Amino acid sequence: MRYRRGSWVLAFALALTGCTSSVPSSGAAPLDFSKAPTSGYSLDNDPEFAPPNTWGPRPALGAGRAGVGPGGAPLAPGPNANREAAPKRADGRVDCSQAKCAALTFDDGPGPYTDQLLDTLKAAGVPATFFLVGYKIKGGAASVQRAAAEGHAIGTHSWSHPVLTKLSEAGMREEMGSPVDALNAIGIHTNMIRPPYGARNATVDAVADSLGLAEVLWSVDTRDWESLSTPSVISEATRAAHPGAIILMHDIHPTSVAAVPDIITKLEAQGYVLVTVPELLGDSFGAGETIFSQGQVKAH
Ligand code: NI
Repeated sequence: MRYRRGSWVLAFALALTGCTSSVPSSGAAPLDFSKAPTSGYSLDNDPEFAPPNTWGPRPALGAGRAGVGPGGAPLAPGPNANREAAPKRADGRVDCSQAKCAALTFDDGPGPYTDQLLDTLKAAGVPATFFLVGYKIKGGAASVQRAAAEGHAIGTHSWSHPVLTKLSEAGMREEMGSPVDALNAIGIHTNMIRPPYGARNATVDAVADSLGLAEVLWSVDTRDWESLSTPSVISEATRAAHPGAIILMHDIHPTSVAAVPDIITKLEAQGYVLVTVPELLGDSFGAGETIFSQGQVKAH
C-alpha cells in the first residue's frame, strides 16, 4: 500500500513539476522551463524516499572542489558477450569510436531501489552512469561507493534539484559545488554534472566550467517519471536508442529499475555495447562542454 499510495503522490507531484524537460536530439531548440518549480517541490518530500533529509547539513564550501574525472574505473564484472567482443582501447575499455555503444544513465538517486539496480547491472556485466542528488549522498554512501567500485561512473545532479537558471550565481555555485564536495568526502571524484531538468544558461555553464564540470545531458528521454510504467520505459528506451545514445532514466522509480533487465537484453540484441558516459566519449571530454550524445559534444 505504501508503494501504491506513494507512487500516486509522486506521480502527482511530478505531473505538477516535471522532473525533466525533453532535450531535442539536435540540442538546438530552446527549452520551456515555465512549468518547472521555483519552490514547493523537493525531493525531501519524495514519498518514496523517507525520512526527509536527515543526513545533515550541506557541507561547507571548500577549496579544491574542481572535478578531476572518474579516472581508471574498473570494468564492471560479470559476463557480457557484447562487451567481450567489442574493440578495446589500450586500457582495456571499449573503443566506442569503433563499437556501437549506448549509455544508460540514472538520475535523482541514490535511493531505496539503487542497490536492486546495481544487482541487475552486475548480473548483466553492464556499467551505467549515475547523476546523484547531493543531499542524498551521505545517507546513501554505501550504494554510491558500491556503484563506483563496480565500475559505474558517478556524476552530480545538484544538491537539491532546483532549476539552476532561476538561482543567483552564488546559489548556482552552492548547488553545483556542494555535491562534488560530498562525493569527495567519500573518496569519489567526478567531472560531470547533469543540471536538473536540463536547465542551463550562460551563467550555469560558466559556473560548471569554474568547478571543472562537464554538463552531461541526454539524447533519449524515456519520460519514465511520467509514465511510471515498466513496459513504457522498456519501449521508450529501446525504440529511441541510436548509436552513441545517452539514455535518461531515474532509479528512484521502481518501475524504471524493473525495466532495466529487458532494456539490456533488447539493446544488446540490437548489437549495442552498453557503457558509461566517460567510456562512450573515450574519456575525451571536460569542463567547457555540453554533451547530448557521443556525436553531440558541444563547446559552450
Ligand atoms: Ni532529476
